[in-house]
Amino acid sequence: MSNAPLLNELSQRALAGLRQTPKCLPSMYFYDDEGSRLFQRIMRLPGYYLTEAEHEILAQQWPKLLDAFTPDGRPFKLIELGSGDGSKTLALCTAFLKARASFSYVPVDISAHALNSLLKAFEHNLPSLRVHPRMGDYFSGWQQPEHGQRQIVMFMGSNLGNLTLDEALTFLRQIRGHLRPGDGLLLGLDLMKNPHTLLAAYNDPEGVTAAFNLNLLRRLNRELGMNFQLERFSHYACYSPLDGAARSFLVSLDKQTVRSTRLDLQLQFEAGETIYTEQSQKYSPAMIRQLAQDSGFASALHLQDQQGRYGVSFWQAL
Ligand code: AVJ
Repeated sequence: MSNAPLLNELSQRALAGLRQTPKCLPSMYFYDDEGSRLFQRIMRLPGYYLTEAEHEILAQQWPKLLDAFTPDGRPFKLIELGSGDGSKTLALCTAFLKARASFSYVPVDISAHALNSLLKAFEHNLPSLRVHPRMGDYFSGWQQPEHGQRQIVMFMGSNLGNLTLDEALTFLRQIRGHLRPGDGLLLGLDLMKNPHTLLAAYNDPEGVTAAFNLNLLRRLNRELGMNFQLERFSHYACYSPLDGAARSFLVSLDKQTVRSTRLDLQLQFEAGETIYTEQSQKYSPAMIRQLAQDSGFASALHLQDQQGRYGVSFWQAL
């Protein structure tokens, strides 16, 4: 523990997870440069329907969203938590502007790199849109808009699913705490469905999700000085229809010891022992309504893609 202060907060959380029984890692740890590239590839996999489904909903049903955001046509402020490079939201903003909507866009992300590409893309494609990026965590530096302007928060891409239901509720209440009655929240949420379809989304035959999962070990080797041998671990994904959770693990293929050259750390693995690396929660319409109610919102609009795989929900702060 003496050397822990040398590590950033995320690495400290990773270290703490590895010392727990059963072992686990924070899913935020996926997104180093290589992990972000692998996630881009996941989004293009035929079995990973989430991205395509959300895109279809926004592309086909944006007029309903615009009407819900501003029934009276008044200006609003669109705040996107975890915007990334904004490539998904660019199309939505383009449609809104063509419909002569008056709004500003506040993308919030922890990656400066992503926000820089976002700014370039928006300046190039939508020079008339006011974009005010905010780098850092979701809530620090949150500015209340000028009197009367409505805030619409977006949290898309099924990112809420990485949280347990309790954590999701805490997070949604935190968002609610930054809003005023009448402000809005737009959520992209993956829906419960045929377990075969769900499992295929997290266990692709191409092996990209396996590479994404195993990349965690590469990052631990680099950042914590560990000596994980990637070929001695394998990706395991499962989906439980009982609680709607898809979960991913790394399985140790044999009994082994992994060490750090930098930290005072030795990890023992039994053959078959797992590291729990990610939860991706799926929701039913009833669960979504309950979440809204429990976090101080009224569920105002629920859109689905044509195949009913994925939902985009709009809630109003009470
Ligand atoms: C980015 C959290 C929405 O849970 O579906 C994709 C990440 N993990 N394949 C998800 C992920 C494995 C993804 N989210």
